[in-house]
Amino acid sequence: MTAATKMFGSVRHRTLMVTGGCGFIGSHLVRALVARGARRIVVLDSLRYGNPANLGQTSASVEVIRHQLGKDPPADLARALAGVEGLFHLAAEKHNQSVDSPIEVLRSNVEGTHTLFDLAAAAGVKKVVFSSSLYAYGRLLGSPFSEDEVPRPTTVYGISKLCGEHLLGHFAKTRGLPYNVLRYLFVYGPRQFAGMGYKSVIVKNGERLLAGDPPVIFGDGKQTLDYVYVDDVVDATIRALESDISNETFNIGSGQPTSIEQLISTLIAVSKRSATAVHEPPDWTAGSFRVGNVDKARRLLGWSAATSLAEGLARTFEWTASGRAQPLQTQKL
Ligand SMILES: NC(=O)c1ccc[n+]([C@@H]2O[C@H](COP(=O)([O-])OP(=O)(O)OC[C@H]3O[C@@H](n4cnc5c(N)ncnc54)[C@H](O)[C@@H]3O)[C@@H](O)[C@H]2O)c1
Repeated sequence: MTAATKMFGSVRHRTLMVTGGCGFIGSHLVRALVARGARRIVVLDSLRYGNPANLGQTSASVEVIRHQLGKDPPADLARALAGVEGLFHLAAEKHNQSVDSPIEVLRSNVEGTHTLFDLAAAAGVKKVVFSSSLYAYGRLLGSPFSEDEVPRPTTVYGISKLCGEHLLGHFAKTRGLPYNVLRYLFVYGPRQFAGMGYKSVIVKNGERLLAGDPPVIFGDGKQTLDYVYVDDVVDATIRALESDISNETFNIGSGQPTSIEQLISTLIAVSKRSATAVHEPPDWTAGSFRVGNVDKARRLLGWSAATSLAEGLARTFEWTASGRAQPLQTQKL
């Protein structure tokens, strides 16, 4: 049997590791795995951006281990991997960090990822799902991203993500470690990261609406993105592990082009406030079009995003209004 046809099966009663499990997407994933009956979930996180509080009521099946990939001793990581059957790798230094600390991004996302996959193969992990990014593509314009185009990342973050993808190809070939790569588009929802002075357009403008201020649009608002709700992303991520399809790369997005103008008008509508957006000078996103072609995920994983933009924005606005969108203090490690 080749690696590409090895079955993983259901997450129920399994031992799983989620790196970055205290962060935005990771915390939703951990909660979903608990709900789906995973036996044991090892959450590995540096706690630099994430917070165990994101996991809500602690469940006896969830164990949080503080560990910084690319920095802390690999022997600790090897111990944490003992008995792990399925690995979800979400921990990463992200785009907003890559401008100021490119070396840290490479250490975490390339060196740390290499060590993790190497030790996972040694520990007998049966399958890895790696959370990559639209930034692996690199381009800002043109037709929807397609998994079979040649990626040309232009940011250190994008380069580090593509490198993680290729490392998996390497470990699949040399050590028979099955995997799937998910290139997430723009993920949004409750608990989305609100620290480091960077907040998404959704959280920032949600807060402005709550304060009675008009939402802000940079430039003409025609820049177009693919917004996908976090619950849908979690569903795709679990499917990518459970599926009998392996060693493939998938775009995970709504597949729907949404301009910032449309996004803001939908946000105003769900907030039930009356407001008119104000325009500020264009930023680097002016004229951009970044949308994923999601046919492959539909065809091979049987997945497509189920949450409408209005529904997802309403849930996210409700969370912002509940006052829980407090910036987390970045920990100096
Ligand atoms: N949010 C999005 O729109 C989006 C889009 C594309 C890809 N992604 C990818 O999805 C994954 C999760 O993103 P998120 O939005 O939940 O981010 P997040 O920052 O909320 O979560 C990342 C978590 O990883 C932890 N972490 C960072 N570096 C680490 C390291 N070296 N060792 C251990 N833990 C570390 C952080 O403390 C944090 O808890 C990331 O890999 C990101 O690149 C996210």
